[in-house]
Amino acid sequence: MGSGVHSLGYFLFEVSDLDAWDRFLTKVLGVERGEALGEGLVPYRTDERAARILLRQGPADDLIALGFEVPSEQTLHEVTTHVREAGHSANPARASEAKARGVEGFVRTFEPGGVAVELFYGPVIADTPFRRERVAAGFVTGEQGVGHLALRANSIAETRSYFEQVLSFGLSDHIRCTLPGDFKVDITFLHVNPRHHTVALGSGLPKHLHHFMLQMGSLDDVGATLDRAFASNVRVVQGLGRHPNDEMVTFYCVTPSGFECEVGWGGRTVDDSTWEPTTYNRISDWGHQSPYRRPPKRPTEMGEQP
Ligand SMILES: [Fe+2]
Repeated sequence: MGSGVHSLGYFLFEVSDLDAWDRFLTKVLGVERGEALGEGLVPYRTDERAARILLRQGPADDLIALGFEVPSEQTLHEVTTHVREAGHSANPARASEAKARGVEGFVRTFEPGGVAVELFYGPVIADTPFRRERVAAGFVTGEQGVGHLALRANSIAETRSYFEQVLSFGLSDHIRCTLPGDFKVDITFLHVNPRHHTVALGSGLPKHLHHFMLQMGSLDDVGATLDRAFASNVRVVQGLGRHPNDEMVTFYCVTPSGFECEVGWGGRTVDDSTWEPTTYNRISDWGHQSPYRRPPKRPTEMGEQP
Protein backbone atom coordinates (compact mmCIF):
# COMPACT_ATOMS: atom_id res chain seq x y z
CA MET A 1 0.00 0.00 0.00
CA GLY A 2 0.98 3.59 -0.11
CA SER A 3 1.51 4.60 -3.74
CA GLY A 4 -1.26 7.12 -3.39
CA VAL A 5 -3.80 5.17 -5.43
CA HIS A 6 -6.99 5.29 -3.35
CA SER A 7 -9.56 3.39 -5.29
CA LEU A 8 -11.08 2.54 -8.63
CA GLY A 9 -12.89 5.71 -9.63
CA TYR A 10 -14.53 4.75 -12.91
CA PHE A 11 -14.90 2.20 -15.68
CA LEU A 12 -14.70 3.24 -19.34
CA PHE A 13 -16.31 0.79 -21.78
CA GLU A 14 -16.44 0.96 -25.56
CA VAL A 15 -19.84 -0.39 -26.60
CA SER A 16 -21.48 -0.93 -29.97
CA ASP A 17 -25.06 -0.34 -28.77
CA LEU A 18 -25.37 2.75 -26.60
CA ASP A 19 -29.18 2.51 -26.44
CA ALA A 20 -29.11 -1.07 -25.16
CA TRP A 21 -26.53 -0.07 -22.57
CA ASP A 22 -28.62 2.89 -21.49
CA ARG A 23 -31.59 0.60 -20.88
CA PHE A 24 -29.42 -1.96 -19.10
CA LEU A 25 -27.76 0.56 -16.79
CA THR A 26 -30.79 2.69 -15.97
CA LYS A 27 -33.77 0.32 -16.16
CA VAL A 28 -32.13 -2.87 -14.85
CA LEU A 29 -29.22 -1.84 -12.63
CA GLY A 30 -30.72 1.42 -11.38
CA VAL A 31 -27.70 3.46 -12.41
CA GLU A 32 -28.45 7.10 -13.31
CA ARG A 33 -27.54 8.72 -16.60
CA GLY A 34 -25.48 11.82 -15.84
CA GLU A 35 -25.21 15.18 -17.54
CA ALA A 36 -22.88 15.13 -20.54
CA LEU A 37 -19.46 16.38 -19.48
CA GLY A 38 -17.61 16.53 -22.78
CA GLU A 39 -17.33 15.15 -26.27
CA GLY A 40 -17.48 11.46 -26.99
CA LEU A 41 -18.36 9.90 -23.63
CA VAL A 42 -21.69 9.25 -21.93
CA PRO A 43 -21.40 9.36 -18.12
CA TYR A 44 -23.44 7.31 -15.66
CA ARG A 45 -23.68 7.75 -11.93
CA THR A 46 -23.88 5.40 -8.95
CA ASP A 47 -23.36 8.07 -6.28
CA GLU A 48 -22.75 11.79 -5.86
CA ARG A 49 -20.05 11.86 -8.52
CA ALA A 50 -20.66 13.04 -12.06
CA ALA A 51 -19.25 9.85 -13.63
CA ARG A 52 -18.69 6.32 -12.34
CA ILE A 53 -19.30 4.45 -15.61
CA LEU A 54 -18.39 6.02 -18.96
CA LEU A 55 -19.49 4.71 -22.34
CA ARG A 56 -18.08 5.50 -25.73
CA GLN A 57 -19.57 4.24 -28.95
CA GLY A 58 -17.40 1.80 -30.93
CA PRO A 59 -16.91 -1.80 -31.98
CA ALA A 60 -14.72 -3.14 -29.16
CA ASP A 61 -17.51 -4.09 -26.71
CA ASP A 62 -14.89 -4.29 -24.01
CA LEU A 63 -13.15 -2.44 -21.22
CA ILE A 64 -11.04 0.45 -22.55
CA ALA A 65 -9.84 2.18 -19.42
CA LEU A 66 -9.85 2.07 -15.63
CA GLY A 67 -9.73 5.34 -13.70
CA PHE A 68 -7.70 5.04 -10.51
CA GLU A 69 -7.99 7.94 -8.10
CA VAL A 70 -5.16 9.66 -6.29
CA PRO A 71 -5.84 12.32 -3.64
CA SER A 72 -4.20 15.35 -5.25
CA GLU A 73 -2.30 16.78 -8.19
CA GLN A 74 0.88 16.56 -6.12
CA THR A 75 0.31 12.86 -5.51
CA LEU A 76 -0.35 12.36 -9.21
CA HIS A 77 3.12 13.80 -9.94
CA GLU A 78 4.68 11.41 -7.43
CA VAL A 79 2.80 8.39 -8.75
CA THR A 80 3.67 9.34 -12.33
CA THR A 81 7.34 9.44 -11.44
CA HIS A 82 7.04 6.04 -9.79
CA VAL A 83 5.29 4.57 -12.85
CA ARG A 84 8.04 5.89 -15.16
CA GLU A 85 10.81 4.64 -12.87
CA ALA A 86 9.20 1.20 -13.09
CA GLY A 87 9.68 1.36 -16.85
CA HIS A 88 6.18 2.26 -18.02
CA SER A 89 4.99 5.16 -20.14
CA ALA A 90 2.86 7.78 -18.38
CA ASN A 91 1.44 10.59 -20.47
CA PRO A 92 -0.65 13.54 -19.27
CA ALA A 93 -4.06 13.62 -20.91
CA ARG A 94 -5.58 16.63 -22.65
CA ALA A 95 -7.86 18.89 -20.62
CA SER A 96 -10.80 17.96 -22.86
CA GLU A 97 -10.28 14.26 -22.07
CA ALA A 98 -10.26 14.97 -18.33
CA LYS A 99 -13.40 17.10 -18.63
CA ALA A 100 -15.27 14.32 -20.45
CA ARG A 101 -14.46 11.93 -17.58
CA GLY A 102 -15.47 14.30 -14.83
CA VAL A 103 -11.99 14.68 -13.37
CA GLU A 104 -9.59 17.61 -13.02
CA GLY A 105 -6.66 15.85 -14.61
CA PHE A 106 -5.20 12.45 -15.37
CA VAL A 107 -2.13 10.64 -16.63
CA ARG A 108 -2.52 7.68 -18.95
CA THR A 109 -0.48 4.53 -18.59
CA PHE A 110 -1.26 0.93 -19.53
CA GLU A 111 -1.45 -2.35 -17.65
CA PRO A 112 0.43 -5.27 -19.28
CA GLY A 113 -2.70 -6.53 -21.08
CA GLY A 114 -3.20 -3.19 -22.84
CA VAL A 115 -6.07 -1.63 -20.89
CA ALA A 116 -5.49 2.05 -20.19
CA VAL A 117 -4.90 2.88 -16.55
CA GLU A 118 -5.93 6.50 -16.03
CA LEU A 119 -4.48 7.90 -12.83
CA PHE A 120 -6.65 10.88 -11.94
CA TYR A 121 -7.33 13.46 -9.26
CA GLY A 122 -10.19 15.87 -8.61
CA PRO A 123 -13.44 14.01 -9.30
CA VAL A 124 -16.34 16.28 -10.25
CA ILE A 125 -19.35 16.11 -7.94
CA ALA A 126 -22.69 16.33 -9.75
CA ASP A 127 -25.05 19.27 -9.21
CA THR A 128 -27.85 16.98 -8.09
CA PRO A 129 -27.93 14.12 -5.54
CA PHE A 130 -27.89 10.56 -6.87
CA ARG A 131 -31.50 9.42 -7.33
CA ARG A 132 -32.19 6.10 -5.62
CA GLU A 133 -35.24 5.40 -7.73
CA ARG A 134 -34.53 1.72 -8.25
CA VAL A 135 -31.78 1.05 -5.72
CA ALA A 136 -33.24 2.26 -2.44
CA ALA A 137 -30.14 1.67 -0.32
CA GLY A 138 -27.82 3.02 -3.01
CA PHE A 139 -24.50 1.67 -4.22
CA VAL A 140 -21.53 1.03 -1.94
CA THR A 141 -18.72 3.30 -3.15
CA GLY A 142 -16.84 5.88 -1.05
CA GLU A 143 -13.40 4.73 0.07
CA GLN A 144 -14.05 1.36 -1.61
CA GLY A 145 -14.41 2.91 -5.06
CA VAL A 146 -16.96 2.15 -7.76
CA GLY A 147 -16.72 -1.65 -7.53
CA HIS A 148 -14.44 -4.40 -8.79
CA LEU A 149 -13.54 -6.14 -12.00
CA ALA A 150 -12.16 -9.43 -13.30
CA LEU A 151 -9.45 -8.67 -15.81
CA ARG A 152 -7.75 -10.88 -18.38
CA ALA A 153 -4.04 -11.39 -17.74
CA ASN A 154 -1.86 -12.88 -20.44
CA SER A 155 0.51 -13.70 -17.60
CA ILE A 156 -0.98 -13.54 -14.13
CA ALA A 157 2.50 -13.19 -12.63
CA GLU A 158 3.33 -10.20 -14.85
CA THR A 159 0.00 -8.43 -14.38
CA ARG A 160 -0.01 -9.12 -10.66
CA SER A 161 3.48 -7.66 -10.43
CA TYR A 162 2.28 -4.53 -12.27
CA PHE A 163 -0.58 -3.92 -9.85
CA GLU A 164 1.54 -4.72 -6.79
CA GLN A 165 4.78 -2.98 -7.72
CA VAL A 166 3.55 -0.06 -9.82
CA LEU A 167 0.16 0.73 -8.28
CA SER A 168 0.85 -0.70 -4.77
CA PHE A 169 -2.01 -3.18 -4.62
CA GLY A 170 -1.84 -6.01 -2.08
CA LEU A 171 -2.65 -9.69 -2.43
CA SER A 172 -6.05 -10.67 -1.03
CA ASP A 173 -6.16 -14.37 -1.89
CA HIS A 174 -6.46 -16.95 -4.67
CA ILE A 175 -9.15 -19.30 -5.85
CA ARG A 176 -7.76 -22.43 -7.49
CA CYS A 177 -9.94 -25.36 -8.45
CA THR A 178 -11.10 -27.56 -11.32
CA LEU A 179 -14.70 -27.34 -12.44
CA PRO A 180 -16.67 -30.10 -14.18
CA GLY A 181 -15.36 -30.56 -17.71
CA ASP A 182 -11.76 -30.22 -16.48
CA PHE A 183 -12.04 -26.43 -16.54
CA LYS A 184 -9.15 -25.05 -14.52
CA VAL A 185 -9.82 -21.98 -12.40
CA ASP A 186 -6.89 -19.89 -11.17
CA ILE A 187 -7.86 -16.41 -10.02
CA THR A 188 -5.72 -13.91 -8.11
CA PHE A 189 -7.50 -11.24 -6.07
CA LEU A 190 -5.88 -7.89 -5.31
CA HIS A 191 -6.96 -4.95 -3.14
CA VAL A 192 -5.99 -1.30 -2.87
CA ASN A 193 -8.39 -0.25 -0.06
CA PRO A 194 -10.73 -2.10 2.34
CA ARG A 195 -12.81 -3.51 -0.55
CA HIS A 196 -11.88 -7.21 -0.55
CA HIS A 197 -10.67 -6.95 -4.11
CA THR A 198 -10.71 -4.22 -6.70
CA VAL A 199 -9.02 -6.35 -9.37
CA ALA A 200 -9.24 -10.10 -9.95
CA LEU A 201 -6.88 -11.61 -12.52
CA GLY A 202 -7.66 -14.63 -14.67
CA SER A 203 -6.31 -16.04 -17.91
CA GLY A 204 -7.79 -17.54 -21.05
CA LEU A 205 -10.58 -14.97 -21.32
CA PRO A 206 -12.02 -13.81 -24.66
CA LYS A 207 -12.10 -10.12 -23.71
CA HIS A 208 -10.07 -7.85 -21.44
CA LEU A 209 -13.02 -7.84 -19.08
CA HIS A 210 -14.76 -10.91 -17.72
CA HIS A 211 -17.09 -8.87 -15.49
CA PHE A 212 -17.43 -5.72 -13.48
CA MET A 213 -19.16 -5.67 -10.11
CA LEU A 214 -21.39 -3.07 -8.51
CA GLN A 215 -22.23 -3.47 -4.81
CA MET A 216 -25.62 -2.45 -3.47
CA GLY A 217 -26.47 -1.38 0.06
CA SER A 218 -29.12 -4.02 0.67
CA LEU A 219 -29.89 -7.61 -0.30
CA ASP A 220 -33.41 -6.48 -1.21
CA ASP A 221 -31.95 -4.19 -3.87
CA VAL A 222 -29.95 -7.09 -5.33
CA GLY A 223 -33.06 -9.29 -5.38
CA ALA A 224 -35.14 -6.57 -7.01
CA THR A 225 -32.39 -6.06 -9.61
CA LEU A 226 -32.42 -9.80 -10.34
CA ASP A 227 -36.18 -9.56 -10.87
CA ARG A 228 -35.70 -6.63 -13.25
CA ALA A 229 -33.03 -8.56 -15.16
CA PHE A 230 -35.38 -11.50 -15.73
CA ALA A 231 -38.28 -9.18 -16.58
CA SER A 232 -36.10 -7.32 -19.12
CA ASN A 233 -34.83 -10.52 -20.76
CA VAL A 234 -31.29 -9.81 -19.61
CA ARG A 235 -29.50 -13.16 -19.57
CA VAL A 236 -28.75 -14.18 -15.99
CA VAL A 237 -25.85 -16.63 -16.18
CA GLN A 238 -25.40 -17.29 -12.47
CA GLY A 239 -28.20 -16.94 -9.96
CA LEU A 240 -27.65 -15.80 -6.39
CA GLY A 241 -24.69 -17.32 -4.62
CA ARG A 242 -21.93 -16.51 -2.14
CA HIS A 243 -18.22 -16.44 -2.87
CA PRO A 244 -15.98 -17.93 -0.16
CA ASN A 245 -13.30 -15.25 -0.21
CA ASP A 246 -15.12 -11.91 -0.30
CA GLU A 247 -18.29 -13.47 1.17
CA MET A 248 -20.52 -11.37 -1.07
CA VAL A 249 -23.94 -12.55 -2.17
CA THR A 250 -24.09 -11.88 -5.89
CA PHE A 251 -25.56 -12.82 -9.24
CA TYR A 252 -24.13 -12.43 -12.74
CA CYS A 253 -25.82 -11.28 -15.92
CA VAL A 254 -24.65 -10.54 -19.44
CA THR A 255 -24.28 -6.92 -20.55
CA PRO A 256 -25.19 -5.76 -24.07
CA SER A 257 -21.45 -6.04 -24.88
CA GLY A 258 -21.18 -9.74 -24.01
CA PHE A 259 -19.03 -9.40 -20.92
CA GLU A 260 -20.76 -9.85 -17.59
CA CYS A 261 -21.96 -7.69 -14.73
CA GLU A 262 -21.97 -8.98 -11.17
CA VAL A 263 -24.39 -7.37 -8.73
CA GLY A 264 -23.71 -7.94 -5.05
CA TRP A 265 -24.43 -7.17 -1.45
CA GLY A 266 -22.54 -7.67 1.79
CA GLY A 267 -19.09 -9.10 1.93
CA ARG A 268 -16.14 -8.49 4.12
CA THR A 269 -13.40 -5.91 3.99
CA VAL A 270 -9.63 -6.18 4.26
CA ASP A 271 -7.61 -4.79 7.16
CA ASP A 272 -4.00 -4.86 6.02
CA SER A 273 -2.65 -4.95 9.58
CA THR A 274 -4.12 -8.40 10.16
CA TRP A 275 -4.87 -9.80 6.69
CA GLU A 276 -3.30 -13.11 5.69
CA PRO A 277 -3.78 -14.25 2.09
CA THR A 278 -5.11 -17.76 1.63
CA THR A 279 -6.08 -20.03 -1.26
CA TYR A 280 -9.63 -21.29 -1.67
CA ASN A 281 -10.51 -24.50 -3.50
CA ARG A 282 -13.99 -23.41 -4.68
CA ILE A 283 -15.58 -20.45 -6.43
CA SER A 284 -18.77 -20.40 -4.40
CA ASP A 285 -19.91 -21.64 -1.00
CA TRP A 286 -23.43 -22.00 -2.38
CA GLY A 287 -25.45 -20.95 -5.38
CA HIS A 288 -24.19 -19.22 -8.53
CA GLN A 289 -26.00 -21.91 -10.51
CA SER A 290 -27.12 -21.26 -14.05
CA PRO A 291 -30.88 -20.77 -14.12
CA TYR A 292 -30.83 -22.37 -17.58
CA ARG A 293 -28.76 -25.44 -16.78
CA ARG A 294 -31.76 -27.77 -16.88
CA PRO A 295 -35.00 -27.18 -18.73
CA PRO A 296 -37.96 -26.70 -16.39
CA LYS A 297 -39.73 -29.98 -15.65
CA ARG A 298 -43.45 -30.51 -15.92
CA PRO A 299 -45.05 -31.17 -12.54
CA THR A 300 -45.70 -34.82 -13.50
CA GLU A 301 -41.96 -35.41 -13.90
CA MET A 302 -40.91 -33.87 -10.59
CA GLY A 303 -40.90 -37.20 -8.78
CA GLU A 304 -38.51 -38.67 -11.32
CA GLN A 305 -35.69 -36.23 -10.63
CA PRO A 306 -32.55 -37.72 -9.06
FE1 LIG B 1 -16.51 -10.46 -9.13
